[in-house]
Amino acid sequence: MKLFTPTLLALGLLLCSPGFAQVASQDFDSIMLYTLKNSSGTTVTVTNYGAIITSIVVADRDGNMGDIALGYNSADDYMNAVDKPYFGAVVGRYGNRIAKGKFSINDVEYTLAVNNGENSLHGGIIGFDKVVWDATPVGDNALTLTYLAKDGEEGYPGNLVVSVTYTLTEENELKMHYQATTDATTPVNLTNHTYFNLKGEGEGTILGHELMLNAKKFTPVDEGLIPTGELRDVDGTPFDFTTAKAIGRDIEEENEQLTFGGGYDHNWVLDKEGKEGEMTLAARVKEPTTGRVLEVYTTEPGVQFYCGNFLDGRLKGKAGKPYVHRSGLCLETQHYPDSPNQPNFPSTLLEPGEKYDTTTVFKFSAE
Ligand code: BGC
Repeated sequence: MKLFTPTLLALGLLLCSPGFAQVASQDFDSIMLYTLKNSSGTTVTVTNYGAIITSIVVADRDGNMGDIALGYNSADDYMNAVDKPYFGAVVGRYGNRIAKGKFSINDVEYTLAVNNGENSLHGGIIGFDKVVWDATPVGDNALTLTYLAKDGEEGYPGNLVVSVTYTLTEENELKMHYQATTDATTPVNLTNHTYFNLKGEGEGTILGHELMLNAKKFTPVDEGLIPTGELRDVDGTPFDFTTAKAIGRDIEEENEQLTFGGGYDHNWVLDKEGKEGEMTLAARVKEPTTGRVLEVYTTEPGVQFYCGNFLDGRLKGKAGKPYVHRSGLCLETQHYPDSPNQPNFPSTLLEPGEKYDTTTVFKFSAE
């Protein structure tokens, strides 16, 4: 059994000297746990299984430290839990859904592994969240994880060399830099699937968190959560987060899109205002009782806001508390779902000789 127990986790933390951001590692066979730490005491732990962020410990407005990322204490749980909600993982080769697991490139049809009804979700049956990555510490505050996804893996064309570098800065930012190259044209859409609860993991629902999304449009879906192709105005709908509001405020409104998603589980079209491909603010979340704030910046054109509608209390977290319905929220920066089948969406195709290069930043503070 491969384990990273709280004790070993604590050992990892001990290896970090205060005052400097440091990366420390523990070896559990091939599954490792790495700790990034900065001088304000923020710590982020990452495992090379699925490039998963297993914890993010940050201060609240009174300086109390708390772990705001849902997850488990052992590698075994990540691998064998009854349900696999992609806690903290990098999802790929294609984050979110591809309709019926099919797409064509130059009139050649590809068939993917299908794992979500008739659709392919988050890279298929064994996506990037369920493989072991190679890990290399970079300097004293960063970690690069690399994976070779072979031609044909889960049905995708092309050998894809993919990497993500996590950097924890002194400004309390966790930077995620994704890069990839391929030897055959292939769709690529990488994101991180951390579930946040700014009160602390296991501390009830996220319905009181106040969310702002920098988006005037979203991509409505059908019953299978596949985009219809429309970019719809959020104005006058429960999907309007242009000014911050509690996530729970409109979530029970009668609305076909909320019914299809079982709540919010949609892609918002970020307002890039001519700054396509540049880093812009995507989202801001504040938890009023602790004052903890998360800001998300990204070079990506979209963000999937998913509010843990499929959590149902069966999974227990790091402190042994059940992850109840809507007890975590994901802000998955990305290209839009099903882009390979949607001619009007920005392309996700990576060609040989090109470099996939995107960055997303989670910035933590308290007020
Ligand atoms: C999807 C949800 C899915 C969840 C898996 C999200 O990115 O949009 O529909 O259930 O990931 O945990």
